[in-house]
This record gives sequence, C-alpha cells and structure tokens, in this order.
Amino acid sequence: MEFFADTAVIDEIRELNEYGLLDGVTTNPSLVAKAGGDFLETVGEICRIVDGPVSAEVAAIDAEEMIKEGRVLAAIASNVAVKVPLTLPGLKACRVLRAEGAAVNVTLCFSANQALLAAKAGATYISPFIGRLDDINLDGMELIYDIRAIYDNYDFETKILAASIRSANHVSAAALAGADVATMPPAVIRGLVSHPLTDKGLETFIADWQKTGQKIIR
Ligand code: E4P
Repeated sequence: MEFFADTAVIDEIRELNEYGLLDGVTTNPSLVAKAGGDFLETVGEICRIVDGPVSAEVAAIDAEEMIKEGRVLAAIASNVAVKVPLTLPGLKACRVLRAEGAAVNVTLCFSANQALLAAKAGATYISPFIGRLDDINLDGMELIYDIRAIYDNYDFETKILAASIRSANHVSAAALAGADVATMPPAVIRGLVSHPLTDKGLETFIADWQKTGQKIIR
C-alpha cells in the first residue's frame, strides 16, 4: 500500500519525506486555505520535495474551465495529478485530461456507482472518503471493499486512494480491504509507529544495556 500525506503544509511534507514514508501527497482547497500561501507555488514546491504524485484540485465547476485549470496544474510538474470532483463535468474533464497524458484523481467519491463511473472515465485514482461516510453513520470501509470487488471484476486499472482517513485503524482496515493508496493527515502517519509495548520494551532494553557497561562504538 502506498502512503500519501493529506496536507499542503510544506514543513510536514519535508519531514515525512526525510523518513522515507511518503509515496505522494494530496491537497484540496480546504487544506490549501488552511496552509496559506500561493497555491501554484505551493504545488510546485511540494512536487520538488516528493517524487511521487501530488494531487492538486481544480476550482472550476464546469468542464471546459476544469480542463483549462487542469492543464495549468499539470504543467507545473510531471508528478502533478489533477484532482477533479465526481460530477458529470468532472468526469468529462477527467477523460480529456487523461487523453492528454495527465494523471487524474477523481475526488469526493461516496458510492460504488460513482467509482465505477470514474474508472470508465479513465481516472488514475478514485478517492472514496471513508471518514465523511462514517461521520453520517454509514460504513466508509464497506465502500472500499465494494470498489475493490467491482474494479477486480472488470480489471479496471484505476487505483483506489482511500481518503478522509482519520485514524490508524482506518489505515489497516483500508489495507485489508485492498485499497492501493491511503492518504492521511501527517499526525496519522506518525501515529502508525506508536505502540505502548514498543515504548515499554525499548525502555527495558536500554536500562538492561546500561547495566552491561558496554559500548557498541568504541
Ligand atoms: C483527500 O484527497 C481528501 O481531500 C481528504 O482526505 C479529505 O479528508 P477530510 O474528510 O478529513 O477533510
């Protein structure tokens, strides 16, 4: 499973990248507004830090404007994935941009039928929003299982990018469900490493090692 950071904060992206934990980055207009700064410059900077795909979302609602904006975003760097919403104009823009060679991430997916449409439009990624479905008492993870089964039935190559991930449990559950990618806030990525028994075990090992009075580097 690939790990993407769901953020537009440069410092956090740089830090995670240095740990070798980043396969890509996703942004959305809300994350860009929260991070501040010039959108196009931010996308360019993220693309210079991370080798993998960097999703940058169009702001237009109609297809022709989305296509124009998508071309501007795709021209920033070869690793930009243009993000379009799961609407009819978004699907049209997806098909055109894909034909021009751009990677496209179709976002705001909340149903298996929407995911089917995105795959038929040739999307590189489909982004089902797990957390937002859970928020309204639906089962976000069930959607990942359904999309996996449908895509496998028809050999669709569109990658399932589990989005709106809120916890470490979401990550392991999405991996079990067969998601290709999980995009998550940096705090969730960092949290994946934590286990109280790891901390306790390490504390004991360090204390016992100190009793030996030895050094490894002499
Ligand atoms: C990713 O591409 C999405 O924009 C993001 O995961 C949404 O997450 P949220 O539901 O926590 O805002």
